[in-house]
Amino acid sequence: MKITVVGAGAVGASCAEYIAMKNFASEVVLVDVKEGLAEGKAMDLMQTASFKDFNTRIIGTTGDYGKTANSEVIVVTSGVPRKPGMTREELVNINAEIVLNVTRNALKYSPDAILIMVTNPMDTMTYLAHKSFNLPKNRIIGMGGALDTARFRYRLAEVLECPISDVEGMVIAAHSDTGMLPLISKATRNGVPVEELIDKEKQNHIVEETKIGGATLVKLLGTSAWYAPGAAVAGMVHSILGDHKKMIPCSAWLDGEYGEKDICLGVPSIIGRNGIEEIIELSLNDEEREKFRMFADAVRKVNQDLKI
Ligand code: LAC
Repeated sequence: MKITVVGAGAVGASCAEYIAMKNFASEVVLVDVKEGLAEGKAMDLMQTASFKDFNTRIIGTTGDYGKTANSEVIVVTSGVPRKPGMTREELVNINAEIVLNVTRNALKYSPDAILIMVTNPMDTMTYLAHKSFNLPKNRIIGMGGALDTARFRYRLAEVLECPISDVEGMVIAAHSDTGMLPLISKATRNGVPVEELIDKEKQNHIVEETKIGGATLVKLLGTSAWYAPGAAVAGMVHSILGDHKKMIPCSAWLDGEYGEKDICLGVPSIIGRNGIEEIIELSLNDEEREKFRMFADAVRKVNQDLKI
């Protein structure tokens, strides 16, 4: 099973690394426009194989999409990452052109692939792919909710002073600093609602830290994060290729679900061999429902900035 990862920057290389380490794919093809970058990262990663015990073959190419032919999944990470002080939304038209171009090239060689969009602003790039390529709606998935959920669980475990594996939670709505909706009402530690374990002030702290999770890292690193985004993508690809049907929050095309249409937003989705196989409609409380609606409107405004 072959995976293409377009963009051999930190996020793309990290995706390739985590996919290889899970050892379920036969081949990962890294593609980049920068001469030699993808080849170099692929070679460096392959030289970790004997330490990490993986058999996946990673190859790199400078723009030769022929090498990506017949991929089952195409992951799009190309584009400009944000700098400290920038929002993801400010990248919209810089990245739209890049994303359209590379996705078109990759689809030419793998017309049946499932697309995972990672480039920011991610919900808008996912929407752009839906609008531009006329693929079945289940075949285009935005990576955001999986990552934001990992960050939510990290913050929950930090406050609860417990292992991350003890806590469950979910983040829906937009992959943006102001449009993310960490569902504290549904978060649990070993089945116990965290609302029973943590006071209101700490709950608010967890929610706020989760929402600015990406921005906090941009401030620390000077560019956007890569380890957790890469790992989040690898988890999605694994569920697709293994047809595991895991419930993963990700940006999906909504056609009436959650009261929204003609938009891509983070919602819990069943991810299997056909991509998004089902969207799960959670029962939200009034406050959550109102926030979801407001955050959808904000994403819609960014979508309107797209020059398509
Ligand atoms: C982040 C980027 C990938 O949240 O959006 O780290």
